[in-house]
Amino acid sequence: MPLLEARNIVKIYPNGTRANNDISFSVEKGEIHAIVGENGAGKSTLMKMLYGLETPTSGEIFLRDQPVHIDTPHKAIDLGIGMVHQNFMLVDSFTVAENIALGREPRTGAVVDRAKAIQDTKNLAETYGLYVDPTAKIEAIPVGMRQRVEILKALYRGAEILILDEPTAVLTPKETNDLFAAIRSLVNQGKTLIFITHKLREVMEISDRVTVMRDAQKVGTVNTRETSIPELARMMVGREVFMVVDKPPVQRGKSVLKVSNLSYANEAGRTLVHRASFSVYESEILGIAGVEGNGQTELIEVLTGLRNPTEGEAYVDGQSMLGQGPRKVREQRVTHIPEDRLTNGVARDGSIADNLIIDRYYREPFAKSGLLNLSEIEQNGHDMIKQFGILATGPAQPVGGLSGGNMQKVIVAREFSSSPRLLIAAQPTRGVDIGAIEFIHQQLVNKRTEGLAILLVSADLQEVMKLADRLMVMYNGEIVAILNNGPDLTEEKLGLYMLGAARQTPEEMGVLA
Ligand SMILES: Nc1ncnc2c1ncn2[C@@H]1O[C@H](COP(=O)(O)OP(=O)(O)OP(=O)(O)O)[C@@H](O)[C@H]1O
Ligand SMILES: [Mg+2]
Repeated sequence: MPLLEARNIVKIYPNGTRANNDISFSVEKGEIHAIVGENGAGKSTLMKMLYGLETPTSGEIFLRDQPVHIDTPHKAIDLGIGMVHQNFMLVDSFTVAENIALGREPRTGAVVDRAKAIQDTKNLAETYGLYVDPTAKIEAIPVGMRQRVEILKALYRGAEILILDEPTAVLTPKETNDLFAAIRSLVNQGKTLIFITHKLREVMEISDRVTVMRDAQKVGTVNTRETSIPELARMMVGREVFMVVDKPPVQRGKSVLKVSNLSYANEAGRTLVHRASFSVYESEILGIAGVEGNGQTELIEVLTGLRNPTEGEAYVDGQSMLGQGPRKVREQRVTHIPEDRLTNGVARDGSIADNLIIDRYYREPFAKSGLLNLSEIEQNGHDMIKQFGILATGPAQPVGGLSGGNMQKVIVAREFSSSPRLLIAAQPTRGVDIGAIEFIHQQLVNKRTEGLAILLVSADLQEVMKLADRLMVMYNGEIVAILNNGPDLTEEKLGLYMLGAARQTPEEMGVLA
């Protein structure tokens, strides 16, 4: 008898989108069940119905063979089903323990027993190997810990079945390993896990079974031991996926971005970027490698005008670009695919068409003598939807109603189409499906071949090694190596620099010129 079962589920959203079309799916107690499929295939929708955030248009859900009506998350929680979303839902100004106990605070009489909430959090964290700091505020903790808080919150409410929607998309490789260890410990203690991912390597590593979805339908469920990455990719996309980029050799051109002695310290006075010097040239991709949290994010935020440096300079085509805010940077034809698409990337209530021109609506061809050219804006929306394979009802659809990966495609489409000199791409393929990764990779390389200068940051070392012409390694806020990419540059060699076991001299880095 399956623990949880969905039978013949159909979900049609109010705007007419058929997101699930006759899906039957089941999970066994104690298994780790992966769900994969292209962006917009209907994965999150199916999970939202198991958690009561959406209700099926038709079809039924059974828990231990009993029909259940899960019409609110409250109901799901009462039934022992918990979910952690693609976008976290924590109260930033509350502490970890307060968030975990929220709505179910332990009390002595009428008074909330804070000490007990903290102790409960500690016990729970220890039981499952999910380390958190109970008294830290959410706004002050890194993303990996926020996720552990969400998981603990579900466990605190008695979750027996835990649904994780793309839990690893926001994690570093190390955090992913820690999460997998926690997942194994949860399963060993009798919990059941369902998780969505785009990373097939993870599916192979941790799951017992995999369900593949495509175009609102279930393609099939297979035992992980009996399948392979190419087979899963084929099931997902409906064709062979090669994941190779065609990268012709090209002579790099003039220097576009020149950074010299750039430092940044945070409010607490901690130096996070220390005297960074490097250049990015026309027709090259400079990849930043390094264990996340070694200054990459802060370096990018300074360069894109989101933070002010404490010393040093950066120039685009010889013009200073720092300390004047993001709009000024954009006007210098620097474009940015942000790491966190929901806070910096899109206006959720705005349409796809509007989001695509959010940085240039006041310029031709989208505006003429102060008036918006609406038909041009709409046409651009149509063109981009087609070119980037954005799954949507049309350019007027609000971005908030798109699947996670399709939101990312809107941002990538906008940034690629702004005719930039320099593209700063942070985690450009986070949350997008393998077909779209293939497309975005090829686009990045094509733009580079056409002359664009690209600064690429990715937590995925294989991605950087595949795309970059040169690799720059950051360790502890410093640039410790700048290396030409080629067959003799191995992960092992990079690893030595990434972990601080080796560093180049400034002469070797060639940054003195
Ligand atoms: N609230 C909504 N209103 C209308 N349409 C929606 C809504 N939420 C999702 N959709 C649509 O339903 C389809 C399935 O979306 P869903 O979020 O389930 O995809 P997904 O498989 O999780 O994709 P991703 O990998 O990009 O997260 C998409 O076409 C999406 O645009
Ligand atoms: Mg989703």
